[in-house]
Amino acid sequence: MGRVSGKKAFITGGAQGLGAEFGRLLADEGAMVFLTDVNAEGAASVAAEINRKHKGAAFSAAHDVTKADQWERALAEAARAMGGISVLVNNAGVGSFGNIETETYENWRRVQEIDVDSIFIGTKAAMPYLKDNQPASIINISSVSGLIADANMLAYNAAKAAVWMMSKSIALHCAKAGYDIRSNSVHPVFTRTPIVEPLIELGGGGEAGEAKLSRQIPLRRLGEPQDIAYAVLYLASDESRFVTAAEFKIDGGITAK
Ligand SMILES: NC(=O)c1ccc[n+]([C@@H]2O[C@H](COP(=O)([O-])OP(=O)(O)OC[C@H]3O[C@@H](n4cnc5c(N)ncnc54)[C@H](O)[C@@H]3O)[C@@H](O)[C@H]2O)c1
Repeated sequence: MGRVSGKKAFITGGAQGLGAEFGRLLADEGAMVFLTDVNAEGAASVAAEINRKHKGAAFSAAHDVTKADQWERALAEAARAMGGISVLVNNAGVGSFGNIETETYENWRRVQEIDVDSIFIGTKAAMPYLKDNQPASIINISSVSGLIADANMLAYNAAKAAVWMMSKSIALHCAKAGYDIRSNSVHPVFTRTPIVEPLIELGGGGEAGEAKLSRQIPLRRLGEPQDIAYAVLYLASDESRFVTAAEFKIDGGITAK
């Protein structure tokens, strides 16, 4: 038996980076996984890779998380494919640079729409499925940027802080309603996925750029996708059945400073 045998996980942003790694690890531990992404080809290729190892464990679909009708369609398809949905991983997201003087309202709105509004729309649409498949778990991928600020990450800071608090409000609602549906947030520091490439470039690129980022982290290295995936695995499993409204900082110590 794997740690998440019998779990049915819907994972957004599953074409690459963290979402793909969550899919691989959850499937390794016995779950069925449904990977969605605007990059449908990427999600399909990760699902095919997982299915080569665990036949029939992975599915995928094209899905823009900012679109309510696409959520409805993808959730219905996932529930059909897996026989329900008991884990929702809201992972799709974009990074952004800009300070209060340089940020545009247009970009601010785009970041809130992809990183925040999508979680409201999607979690609301997923509630009936999660209620039908208790015990269930909602896992929202925030960031250390939701907890500590940077002068040049105005829109991203605000978005990831909203994800943090939204996770708690959902958790309290579910507890009050008597649902066995937990909701928690995960806060990674710089982790080796395509999203950190612009940050490495800003620091001079290559090894020098990476070293500049690593110096800010007490453990002196970037996170690896698997470091974050193990937190998601725990939160998806019943090992965390008494854990709700919590924030998991997988950050090499950076938020202690
Ligand atoms: N890697 C890090 O350093 C880091 C640190 C903290 C938080 N995070 C968060 O982790 C999550 C995953 O990031 P990642 O590092 O894997 O980045 P990534 O850029 O490698 O992957 C993000 C995925 O989301 C998808 N996506 C973007 N917009 C979408 C939309 N509208 N609908 C559906 N899919 C969409 C992309 O196509 C991509 O496959 C994000 O929410 C990010 O903010 C990442």
